[in-house]
Amino acid sequence: MTEQASYSKEKIAVSTSPKHPAGNKVNVQTLQAKKLHGEPITFLTAYDYPTAVALDRSGIDGILVGDSLGMVVLGYENTLPVTMQEMLHHCRAVSRGVSRAHLVGDMPFMSYQASVADALRNAGSILQKGGMDAVKLEGGRERVPAIRAIISAGIPVMGHLGLTPQSVHQLGGWKIQGKSTQAAKIIVEDSLILEDAGCYAIVLESIPAEVARLIASRLSIPVIGIGAGADCDGQVLVTHDVLGLFDRFTPSFVKKYADLFSEMERAFKEYISDVKERKFPASEHAHSMDAQALRDLMREIELQGFEIESDDNQPTRLH
Ligand code: KIV
Repeated sequence: MTEQASYSKEKIAVSTSPKHPAGNKVNVQTLQAKKLHGEPITFLTAYDYPTAVALDRSGIDGILVGDSLGMVVLGYENTLPVTMQEMLHHCRAVSRGVSRAHLVGDMPFMSYQASVADALRNAGSILQKGGMDAVKLEGGRERVPAIRAIISAGIPVMGHLGLTPQSVHQLGGWKIQGKSTQAAKIIVEDSLILEDAGCYAIVLESIPAEVARLIASRLSIPVIGIGAGADCDGQVLVTHDVLGLFDRFTPSFVKKYADLFSEMERAFKEYISDVKERKFPASEHAHSMDAQALRDLMREIELQGFEIESDDNQPTRLH
């Protein structure tokens, strides 16, 4: 690792803002310490305030506002159409719900590929306007200039190797990466290059467990796996997959912990039928008026010839 990149393993002071009380907020050093002590690191994605609150309360280490939001929240075919504006919108919502978890904002397609200046400016926005603690970007050795520039501005960068969804067309689909000796060698080399460039952590997506284990043992920074086996330093999944909220497909490496899509459909159907059958709202869902006040109201309306004043001060007949 370069000096610029050497995240200290000692505890250092963190932000003292009320939202992020010192000592409580998970940061790059906390994650590094977890790797050092062999404590598994937990990440999930979030794209909105309630999910962020629930994850933070559950004790998750890190929340990734992934560009997967393009598919699971916005209904795009893949992650390519996601813009900086969309990312910032969702990053802000998530950051408002979190006081403890480490927050990582994904850099969307074409926010860092065209120039180092773009990469630096957009990474800055993800922290400054999106309220994130770090950024994640996809790619290996070809990303080193952008990664170095972002880190030199004091912004922690998480790398992402293996199946990199922003390159889905180049990869020929959502395929497992690094299966051949040569392909695996490139991923191993890239992981070492990203560590040397200063990344504080790396996501490995959809690669053989053996390759991920090798990388996790070689790198001194945390390796977070998604479809990369059990021997990574931590795991991340897309929350909509975990909750069964995304109905288009579920990758084979996902463990579904709930089936909220079916539950949502069931609840919606029950509501529709309740309204149609006039079972909702029931009396406990309605506001009622004091009986005497209601009697007085009826008497006054009758006495005044059923007239009330409208907004433009013109008398309006009730019947
Ligand atoms: O966008 C995302 O959610 C991700 C994870 C799959 C790691 O990049």
